[in-house]
Amino acid sequence: MALTARVSVDPMRLEDVAAVHEIERLSFQTPWPAHAFEQELKGNRLARYLVARAGERVVGFAGIWSMVDDAHVTTFGVHPDWRRQGIGRHLLLNLAELSLVIGARRMTLEVRASNHAAQALYRTFDFDIVGHRPGYYTDDGEDALIMTTPELDGPAMRGRIATERARLAG
Ligand SMILES: CC(C)(COP(=O)(O)OP(=O)(O)OC[C@H]1O[C@@H](n2cnc3c(N)ncnc32)[C@H](O)[C@@H]1OP(=O)(O)O)[C@@H](O)C(=O)NCCC(=O)NCCS
Repeated sequence: MALTARVSVDPMRLEDVAAVHEIERLSFQTPWPAHAFEQELKGNRLARYLVARAGERVVGFAGIWSMVDDAHVTTFGVHPDWRRQGIGRHLLLNLAELSLVIGARRMTLEVRASNHAAQALYRTFDFDIVGHRPGYYTDDGEDALIMTTPELDGPAMRGRIATERARLAG
């Protein structure tokens, strides 16, 4: 779908969960159930979730868990009709800024070895492959790659965040 409405990124609310779950269902072979998002929003004080909206419509979402000094990306998805229009980048920028605010030193995630689209997105944000978890995905036994950013508060990531913010504003 062509992006005509302004995209904004805000904290996920309980009323967003149905739309988020629909994107999750369209994006993953083993989606989280809707109540998992509700529980996260209501009960996990270490979790932070964001949604991207095109106008009023929820078109993407992402979440992190604050794990000591690591912001661990737990989930990330953009509605299939709205991909390749910069929404993933927009979410990732907000996730990085949020990670800095909560005091994380780095962002880390696991990604399927075959998920080249997501790996390409994360590379645009200076994530690098630092490890490998054989058979990590229990539904089909696929391997995960572990990707992490440089130090968020270091000059490289500060520069990356500023560049991405300026690109969005321009
Ligand atoms: C991965 C995903 C979130 C990307 O979202 P998106 O909104 O389409 O990403 P963007 O438009 O912001 O893409 C930014 C950059 O990432 C890279 N990228 C994104 N999708 C890509 C693809 N399908 N193939 C190659 N590169 C891709 C490109 O470098 C792109 O920049 P460009 O469009 O200027 O070439 C989306 O494809 C998705 O929801 N996939 C299913 C769920 C999933 O895999 N989540 C991640 C789990 S770890």
